[in-house]
Amino acid sequence: MGRTLAKSHSRYVCQSCGASAARWAGRCDACGAWNAVVEEAVRPSVPGGLNPVGRRGSGRGKAIEFAGLKGRSDPAARRPSGVAEFDRVCGGGLVPGSTILIAGDPGIGKSTLLLQVAGALDGGAGRGASSEAPCAYISGEEAVEQLRLRGRRLGLADSRVLLATATSVRDIVASLDRAEPPAVVIIDSIQTMYVDSLDSAPGTVSQVRASAQELIRLAKARGFVLLLVGHVTKEGQIAGPKVLEHMVDTVLAFEGERGHQFRILRATKNRFGPTDEIGVFEMTDAGLIEVANPSALFLAERRGNVAGAAVFAGLEGSRPILVEIQALVSPSPLATPRRAVVGWDGGRLAMVLAVLEARCGLVLAGKEVYLNVVGGLRVSEPAADLAVAAALVSAATDRPVPAETVVFGEIGLSGEVRAVSQAEARLKEAAKLGFTGAWTPPRRKGSGRAGGRKAGPEVREIPHLQDLVRLFTEGQNLTEGQIHRLTSAAGGSESG
Ligand code: TYD
Ligand code: MG
Repeated sequence: MGRTLAKSHSRYVCQSCGASAARWAGRCDACGAWNAVVEEAVRPSVPGGLNPVGRRGSGRGKAIEFAGLKGRSDPAARRPSGVAEFDRVCGGGLVPGSTILIAGDPGIGKSTLLLQVAGALDGGAGRGASSEAPCAYISGEEAVEQLRLRGRRLGLADSRVLLATATSVRDIVASLDRAEPPAVVIIDSIQTMYVDSLDSAPGTVSQVRASAQELIRLAKARGFVLLLVGHVTKEGQIAGPKVLEHMVDTVLAFEGERGHQFRILRATKNRFGPTDEIGVFEMTDAGLIEVANPSALFLAERRGNVAGAAVFAGLEGSRPILVEIQALVSPSPLATPRRAVVGWDGGRLAMVLAVLEARCGLVLAGKEVYLNVVGGLRVSEPAADLAVAAALVSAATDRPVPAETVVFGEIGLSGEVRAVSQAEARLKEAAKLGFTGAWTPPRRKGSGRAGGRKAGPEVREIPHLQDLVRLFTEGQNLTEGQIHRLTSAAGGSESG
């Protein structure tokens, strides 16, 4: 139809970010990824703008209708999945016709999570109302036998789920393009799907994009919820779900440290809800278990009265979460001592160390510093600064943070401790878990009277980082020179 170029030509497409170039390069110019550029055949499909006129329809477009912000708008009807933590992250349930991408490292538990969601969809409200299963699970990676085995292990043998193994988008579309498709369709994973009109291999950016496009279009037309699984890999072989992010309505990242039993589902984009909610799961032999009270779990293995640990009263979305931050400071034989961080930002650690050195005389430059957020949670709030500083000073002075004390506050470059949002919610969570003390930033003027609270932890306001350091050194009557010696001497163990 119409005029096509005589032959399709090839482009070099970055499998990580989707940028395309005319020549191959070892490193993508756009995103800097190495070995991610792959040759892909492309058919020119973009028409040459609106001119010349007459190839498709008339030269004049139809006038579009504009509407005001006021007017009727029905809130999106949502379908709760039955997995409360999953619904929370989605903004209260699944919106018909919308597409959700669940992205995560291979092996993190995406298939398990979605099979559990599929099972819960059937177990929830409306069971028996219709004779058909509410959810289709289409896997391009596992055979139906394997899926059944997994379902049995997860205790879902009785749930009605339509299972299939398929990779051809044409077949999938043909099966689902009917008046009453299942309410929810799961595609595991988008990297295994292919559109047969394209020459490139499954998993390449053009295939991933084309497959997603077809499926999303169908989901909109037929009004089912589309859940896409996308693997994230550092290597360039498989297309990173980056290219999908702007095509879908919601992006959920499924994260966790390998070897830890916690898994966190985090919304990074959501057209139908907030983006800062997290869902917390615990991984077990029988699948993922929802964690309604993450603080208790994250603090489960805490031992009181150890130097180098502080409990941070954090906030994830609307939910306060307490988590332990551990620091280890040890002498280093290296000219450039190691700094290793798990679960927090390395640059932020460097900043806290620099402020401790410049404003408080606590020099850790010659020491190795390790920082760990316990439980595999990734903390991104600046409010964790003060808790990190407390863990560091505690480790350096070998004196524990007082038992049952939570810490939060942002640190400025001059060492001042700044107020953070929702201090009351953080204190309330701390009280709920039996904490009796809190080190916090000074209250903003006018935000309630100090001491006006009836219950909850006893608040100790810390205006400056120096005041924090003093809390660890005052009992020992250390002078600044002694602190300096304590923290910069090679042994560092002559405290007493
Ligand atoms: P899987 O769901 O297959 O990961 P993905 O789809 O993201 O690649 O899970 C990986 C492995 O972990 C699998 O062998 C099952 C196991 N697993 C459990 O035993 N319990 C759990 O709660 C989860 C999530 C996974
Ligand atoms: Mg899988």
